[in-house]
Amino acid sequence: MPDTVHVLNGPNLNLLGTREPEVYGRTTLADLEAACRASCERHGLDLVFRQTNHEGELVTLLQQARGSLGVVLNAAAYTHTSVALGDAIKAVGLHVVEVHLSNVFAREPFRHHSYISPVARGVICGLGIDGYRLAIDALAASRNS
Ligand code: DQA
Repeated sequence: MPDTVHVLNGPNLNLLGTREPEVYGRTTLADLEAACRASCERHGLDLVFRQTNHEGELVTLLQQARGSLGVVLNAAAYTHTSVALGDAIKAVGLHVVEVHLSNVFAREPFRHHSYISPVARGVICGLGIDGYRLAIDALAASRNS
C-alpha cells in the first residue's frame, strides 16, 4: 500500500504514560496512536500502528510493511542490541525513520549506539511525541521525491 505509513513501537512502549514519566512524558500509547492517525489523515495517508514487546515480532512487522510508503520505528531497547532489526531494514528496502521520545545521546552511553541508524533514512530523537509527527511529515514529503 504505497499510501500507508506503518508506525512500529518496541518493548515497554505499551506502558507509555506511566513508565518513567520524567523521561517519556505522560502521553499514553493510545494518545500517541491518535496523534499519528491525525498526522496521517492530514496527509491523506492510511496508518498501521503496532506495538510489540518481542524482537522477532518487530522483524515480522517490518517485513509486513513492504510495499508501504515507509515506517516510523521506535524499536526502544532493541535499537541498541538488535542485529536482526538492522538486517530486516536492509532486507525490506523501505524508508525507515528511527524515532526516540527521549534524547538518547543525553542518556547512558549504551543508548548512544544504534543498529538502526546506519540503515535508516533519518533519525529523530528527544522531541517526545512530536518526533513521530515529524517522521510522518518526512515520509509524506518523500512521496514527491
Ligand atoms: C526509547 C529510548 C531507548 O533507549 C529506550 O530503551 C526505550 C525508549 C525512546 O523512545 O526514547 O525504551 O526508544
